Amino acid sequence: MKIHFSHLTKPTSTIVDMFNQWENDPALIPLTRPNQNMEDLEHQWEMTLDDLTKRLEHNQTYLIYLDDQLVGEMNYMVDPSHLYKKEQGTAWIGITIGEPEGRGKGIGFVAIQYLEEQIKQQGLKRIELGVFEFNIQAQKLYKKLGYQEIGRIKDFTYWQDKMWNDIRMEKYLGDC
Ligand SMILES: CC(C)(COP(=O)(O)OP(=O)(O)OC[C@H]1O[C@@H](n2cnc3c(N)ncnc32)[C@H](O)[C@@H]1OP(=O)(O)O)[C@@H](O)C(=O)NCCC(=O)NCCS
Repeated sequence: MKIHFSHLTKPTSTIVDMFNQWENDPALIPLTRPNQNMEDLEHQWEMTLDDLTKRLEHNQTYLIYLDDQLVGEMNYMVDPSHLYKKEQGTAWIGITIGEPEGRGKGIGFVAIQYLEEQIKQQGLKRIELGVFEFNIQAQKLYKKLGYQEIGRIKDFTYWQDKMWNDIRMEKYLGDC
């Protein structure tokens, strides 16, 4: 199993197509974006090449490859307004392993450590993330990587007939 990462600086229409496919995958929608109701869950988003190019102005994105196949992406933003703890020098991270064959093989574990290294190299000291309370797989991974819960935002997202909390987690990046 060969895993590698690539900093996305020049998006192509093939990459946009993959992002749109993951964004609109019914299995992923409940896990990756907050939804207010059933309609949101069914909404299809179509990002253009221009949208993705603009996103990269404030969002550092890394592509995740398994045996040279693009299987997912991860990204960070610096000090976005939605941080739970508004501490300057914080990277807000997100990850989507969009292709099912990329999940459950330890790729997320390796990928986030790589992302942490990139964040550290930018002189940032803290990471914050949000994970929905029913996303047990992701919570397991973050705990394994040393992330700690700092709070919960109530009734944050709709799934399976009810509203669920968003769990916020943080990790301080050490010197070694
Ligand atoms: C959540 C997500 C990032 C986790 O990534 P992943 O690669 O599937 O998860 P892991 O790295 O933890 O690997 C999963 C399993 O593979 C196992 N594994 C296999 N080989 C491994 C290896 N070499 N090293 C580490 N773990 C390995 C792990 O033990 C783990 O099993 P466990 O959870 O029972 O301990 C990914 O599944 C995903 O993108 N899901 C959909 C979108 C999503 O939920 N995003 C996060 C929103 S907050």
